[in-house]
Amino acid sequence: MTEHRALVHLTRAWYVACTSAELGKRPIARTILGRPLVLFRAGEGVASALLDRCPHRNAPLSEGRVVSGELECPYHGWRFDGAGKCMALPGLAEGPVESPGRCAEAFSVREQDGWVWVWCEPGVAPDVEPMRIPFADDPRYTVFRLEMRLEGSLVMALENMLDVPHTAYLHRGLFRSGEKRHTITARVRRHGAGAECEYVGEPRPTGVVGALLAPGGGVVQHWDRFLMPCLGQVEYKLGEKSHILSTQAMTPESDYVTRTYAIAAFRLPIPGFLLKPLVRPVIRKILKQDAWMLKQISDNVNRFGGERMASSPIDLLGPHIYYLLRRAERGELDGREHLQLEREVLLRV
Ligand code: FES
Ligand SMILES: [Fe+2]
Repeated sequence: MTEHRALVHLTRAWYVACTSAELGKRPIARTILGRPLVLFRAGEGVASALLDRCPHRNAPLSEGRVVSGELECPYHGWRFDGAGKCMALPGLAEGPVESPGRCAEAFSVREQDGWVWVWCEPGVAPDVEPMRIPFADDPRYTVFRLEMRLEGSLVMALENMLDVPHTAYLHRGLFRSGEKRHTITARVRRHGAGAECEYVGEPRPTGVVGALLAPGGGVVQHWDRFLMPCLGQVEYKLGEKSHILSTQAMTPESDYVTRTYAIAAFRLPIPGFLLKPLVRPVIRKILKQDAWMLKQISDNVNRFGGERMASSPIDLLGPHIYYLLRRAERGELDGREHLQLEREVLLRV
């Protein structure tokens, strides 16, 4: 048993700060790893992120407004472009406006697949690009997007998303039933950029989700994946016709608050217009149950002043998530590393 706090603070990484839809004409405030940011659309609508603190007198820039693609501070009206350069200093009768000391700290930003990603280290050029989300715009798929604030750490939230054994209890009836009937093989693989669990011989899950995936029953192909540093992915396949791929980006706001951004893509033998009203409330309910449990856990961790964890072999991905994030935080991880570990575990589902 260990008693500590399973927290990681990896700043050299891309995290989703907000959705494209949320970023309109007004600036918005977001916090990533305790760092307050302001996001806004600079010239030509380019998504931009600055530290949410005016270099002049510390006013929050997120309380300002966007004028001609520049962010205007609400206190004395200094204006900044998307790179944080001071472009206007109202009232200054002479001398240059621009000066290095008047720059707001800027972060690299990418907007793709309906999400706005921020590289959480200011002034450092990213050495990788954020991952593309499969099927986000594929017309053959019905796509659901959801966002939720979770009161849990990044590690807790990622493990929860990729943990099979809790589904029979916390999500009883929605996902799997409590009666354990089948022994299946879980094949866990870990490499430098993540970890994956493949479930072999898994019968169609009982409950609403399984019924939609495979109305006639059968054996499904199922993978759970952790993709460094903040993505969880669950994939189900049944023959050529049914495919579900759900990707969640987890953004650590602070030690025990994580925002999740989900894109769930469904290709099922049911038309999209029927699928949406059936599936959306189920996904929401599952996420709300997870959010409730994460809050209970975080409150308890705080009550006891630390985390205590006894693991079993069927805690398949959680220990690898922590291990990989920890190594990356220490700068020890090479994302190109090939297979580091492979093992098989029997579990009853
Ligand atoms: S505090 Fe921002 S312009 Fe003065
Ligand atoms: Fe869950």
